[in-house]
Amino acid sequence: MNSFYRAHVLVCAGAGCVSSGCKAVEQALWAEVSQQGLDEEVKVIQTGCVGSCDQGPVVVVYPEGTFYRKVRPEDVPEIVEEHLLKGRPVERLLYKDESSELVVSLEDIGFFKRQRKIVLRNCGVINPEDITEYIARDGYEALGRVLTEMAPEDVIDIVKRSGLRGRGGAGFPTGVKWGFTAKATGSPKYVVCNADEGDPGAFMDRSVLEGDPHSVIEAMAIAGYAVGSNQGYIYVRAEYPLAIERLSIAIKQAREYGLLGKNIFSTGFDFDLEIRMGAGAFVCGEETALIASIEGRRGMPHPKPPFPANEGLWGKPTLINNVETYANIPPIILNGPEWFAGIGTEKSKGTKVFALAGKINNTGLVEVPMGTTLREIIYEVGGGIPGGRKFKAAQTGGPSGGCIPAEHLDVPMEYDSLVKLGAMMGSGGLIVMDDHTCMVDMARFFLQFTQDESCGKCTPCREGTKVMLDILTRITEGKGQEGDIELLEDLGKTIKNTALCGLGQTAPNPVLSTIRYFRNEYEAHIRERRCPAGVCQALFKYEIVQDKCRRCGLCQKACPAGAIEESVEELDLIGEEPAMAGAAEAGAGVRAGVATAVATRSKRKPLVINQDKCLKCGVCMRECRFQAIARV
Ligand SMILES: Cc1cc2nc3c(=O)[nH]c(=O)nc-3n(C[C@H](O)[C@H](O)[C@H](O)COP(=O)(O)O)c2cc1C
Ligand code: SF4
Ligand code: SF4
Ligand code: FES
Repeated sequence: MNSFYRAHVLVCAGAGCVSSGCKAVEQALWAEVSQQGLDEEVKVIQTGCVGSCDQGPVVVVYPEGTFYRKVRPEDVPEIVEEHLLKGRPVERLLYKDESSELVVSLEDIGFFKRQRKIVLRNCGVINPEDITEYIARDGYEALGRVLTEMAPEDVIDIVKRSGLRGRGGAGFPTGVKWGFTAKATGSPKYVVCNADEGDPGAFMDRSVLEGDPHSVIEAMAIAGYAVGSNQGYIYVRAEYPLAIERLSIAIKQAREYGLLGKNIFSTGFDFDLEIRMGAGAFVCGEETALIASIEGRRGMPHPKPPFPANEGLWGKPTLINNVETYANIPPIILNGPEWFAGIGTEKSKGTKVFALAGKINNTGLVEVPMGTTLREIIYEVGGGIPGGRKFKAAQTGGPSGGCIPAEHLDVPMEYDSLVKLGAMMGSGGLIVMDDHTCMVDMARFFLQFTQDESCGKCTPCREGTKVMLDILTRITEGKGQEGDIELLEDLGKTIKNTALCGLGQTAPNPVLSTIRYFRNEYEAHIRERRCPAGVCQALFKYEIVQDKCRRCGLCQKACPAGAIEESVEELDLIGEEPAMAGAAEAGAGVRAGVATAVATRSKRKPLVINQDKCLKCGVCMRECRFQAIARV
């Protein structure tokens, strides 16, 4: 096999691209490269997630970094013939930016340009199933240095000085936690990686495990040395089969290379890892519930203290960190704590990975320095709101977090600024909402999630969130009452103060923050029985505006419920002239059909919407060329 290739063709094989068909593209590339006799010159490599999953399957060709999107197996012969043989990029597969300009290189695409990748440094770059590719990018060098040159307390000191804070949600200083676990009495000690990742829409941790599993393995071994542990567990949800598969391969390879197991780097240090699968309950991400789950007990939280650092797995001192927290460790060791502390803000160091979703042009995984403003993330990285619509709010921290309204678009994304606004960093879910989003409905959605996921152990969370959810549901159904907003606020504050674990303590956040910034929307639902965003179905209906309707019948054909019917009563219909004018405006495509309809319309009865059948899907409104369907 050749060790020097003139071109590397990277095929993203993250879960997103796997589901959009990258495996067939990869196979087609192998076959075509071989057929053209290029095996010795061109190397095809599968990687983890590149970040722009909505563009998948994604293929990147190096050395140029040409970014191809939505590649199908049929496109492969052209890529090989044109690009790999003749050096001409295939334009039709290139990315187009917001101004419809073709962008050739990944580095020139706005989505990637503004990012700084520390955690995701290897995702989309190396083959996660090949340890040599990780090693070629300085992999396991940090572990080697730690074991051969440093005492455990030096390692903890480096992590403390880096300013790294836990990325699992609470933002606790990582070095301090390592220090507590190192000092705790009890043996053996354990190191745990929390890869439960229960926030709906979040997939940062999954992508790291799928795209760069060795970074977590290496970091856990470093942590083991620092706190005095020889055994680690990675707790990952069973719904992440690809992450589990790649992690298993990586653990096996690390053992074969002597980087896990006995006497690592001949230093006498032993460390090994096992995977534990979770069934996907959100509460099992809470560290005490996670410990119970690993031990084979029902995943329910218990009060703290004792903290896991003192009494964790099987009652022994246990260090628990999040996937992203661990992925930062090897670069901190290699580049030094000052390097890391120089990135970000005074109290939030390094970068943060966000899962950008919702009403935004570029969705996917983004990693930016802490302190990057929400505006920069949405407009420069995310490419703005589709259809030029107005930004309304962003939800950070998933169901435990809160919303940030347009007046705070310039907030720096760091732990403390977000808490001040009533939101939180959480683990990195970032959902963007435009002016078509109902904030009451959004709060109801998240509360429904936490209510469903409550383990039921304590009353404030079990019962309190249910009462809050009932009130919210009532409001969205047009049955809200005076005093409901105040009741929600009272209940929310009480639950926050009295629930046993973080799930209950944060569950009211989406409700409280939407009341804080969008109280007028709650009032419109309650007092005027109106949903300003036109989302809450009970609060609007569709009607046909008779003097605009040309009776072309498009809505009737499109209605999936057969809800558009002829009225029993005839209406005094308007003449033929305006109908033809309207038809001309509608464009040539519908003109002929409309003209026929107009010729006979005077003999027919008007169309009306049968409200008992109507599903409120809005299809008729979209289909009508004359704006004759109104939402009232
Ligand atoms: C309901 C709930 C769910 C949680 N889910 C996760 C999770 O999926 N992943 C995670 O790392 N931390 C989660 N946490 C936070 C953990 O309890 C713990 O603080 C974290 O794993 C510590 O790691 P870190 O210091 O590196 O952030 C959750 C907390 C709560 C209350
Ligand atoms: S707050 Fe909710 S999830 Fe947490 S222990 Fe109480 S009932 Fe269970
Ligand atoms: S909203 Fe949907 S179901 Fe109702 S009339 Fe229009 S197309 Fe039919
Ligand atoms: S999975 Fe391919 S870009 Fe995310």
